[in-house]
Amino acid sequence: MRTQVVIIGSGPSGLLLGQLLAGIGVENVILERVDRDYVLGRVRAGVLEQGTVDLLDEAGAGARMRAEGLPHDGISLAFDNRLHRIDLAALTGGKRVTVYGQTEVTHDLMDKRSAAGLMTVYDAKNVLPQGFDTASPFVTYEKDGVTHRIDCDFIAGCDGFHGVSRKSVPQDALKLFERAYPFGWLGILAEVPPADHELIYANHPRGFALCSMRSEHRSRYYVQCPIDDKVENWSDERFWDELRLRLPKEAAEKVTVGPSFEKSIAPLRSFVAEPMQFGRLSLVGDAAHIVPPTGAKGLNLAASDVRYLFSGLKEFYLDKSPAGIDAYSGKALSRVWKAVRFSWWMTTMLHRFPDTDAFGQRIQEAELDYLVHSQAAATSLAENYVGLPY
Ligand code: FAD
Ligand code: DHB
Repeated sequence: MRTQVVIIGSGPSGLLLGQLLAGIGVENVILERVDRDYVLGRVRAGVLEQGTVDLLDEAGAGARMRAEGLPHDGISLAFDNRLHRIDLAALTGGKRVTVYGQTEVTHDLMDKRSAAGLMTVYDAKNVLPQGFDTASPFVTYEKDGVTHRIDCDFIAGCDGFHGVSRKSVPQDALKLFERAYPFGWLGILAEVPPADHELIYANHPRGFALCSMRSEHRSRYYVQCPIDDKVENWSDERFWDELRLRLPKEAAEKVTVGPSFEKSIAPLRSFVAEPMQFGRLSLVGDAAHIVPPTGAKGLNLAASDVRYLFSGLKEFYLDKSPAGIDAYSGKALSRVWKAVRFSWWMTTMLHRFPDTDAFGQRIQEAELDYLVHSQAAATSLAENYVGLPY
């Protein structure tokens, strides 16, 4: 068969791109390795920048997010047994973030896609992008033991860090940048009210902790843990005790404990592959870059890549000009690197590293103290957290 754009991967970047393209009449097919429920079962990001919210609206998938998402005007940094609020809105001329889970974003986009009758092939095995150095690329895949081929104009590699798209590019054409951090995040979801109405990022000698939420009655909490730790080592009781030890007393007292219904450990990594465009194949979102979650940037970066690529494809189809596609990698990477820097900086400032000694701890506390008492420093954090301009 033939379509205009084949999208590999039905995570948030693939679904969002598919929806935006359909909105301007560009045909697309999504090929996804696993099934729909598996995609929806992954618990990941929770904080959306305004630009991501606007893009979901543009894709026609913003109604439930508008109704159920929680707008947040600030965050708190916790250290030295105290909470210090960063007023994001006051420091950025009124910008805010929206707390709405990636699972819900994915759900809304999938519902829109099926309502519009757009084609998604789940359980597509051995997906392979080919011929993207020519004007006639195609993608092959297997479904129920039968091999299929889809010819197209463009291939969008929206298949995450472990996907096939980046691996299909000649490896000497890629420049890779990587940093692995010597710890992970243990995260839980529990049907309990959040400790505070805004997020709390805590630096503590026992390690980092984050109080987040999915709604007014569902909390998402994280604690820094050893990189080789196992979920089985963490009973709910141990998690709640450790979390409260890392929070200032006033916040710890407000933590409502309850049974967790999700518990997982995520490694922390910074990774960038350059460039993000190879002829007719573009890398989008986690397929091209990973950031440690501390700055809440992973999903938002995936959305900003989609925005740049969509604008390039729109120019190609509506104005018959390849200029936007040719500019994709440069534009996307410029914003990516700023988010990579911000995520690295937040991670460095808030976590305990194996070699963080008493000196290192004091340096972190001095940086945090400077941050919450200097309008210039707080503004720098705020403008990055709410999202840099496109
Ligand atoms: P993905 O969501 O990874 O989607 C890629 C899709 O491609 C998947 O559905 C996958 O099944 C599919 N795929 C893979 N290989 C193939 C193939 N060969 N053929 C076909 N399909 C394929 N960000 C935050 O901001 N905050 C967080 O707390 C946070 N937590 C995270 C926790 C974990 C464990 C991970 C992995 C990421 C986390 N992130 C977080 C990052 C954020 O979730 C990602 O940046 C976001 O999911 C990127 O979206 P994507 O669509 O580019 O990639
Ligand atoms: C969440 C995750 C993050 O990485 C973050 O910085 C803020 C919130 C979350 O899952 O809610």
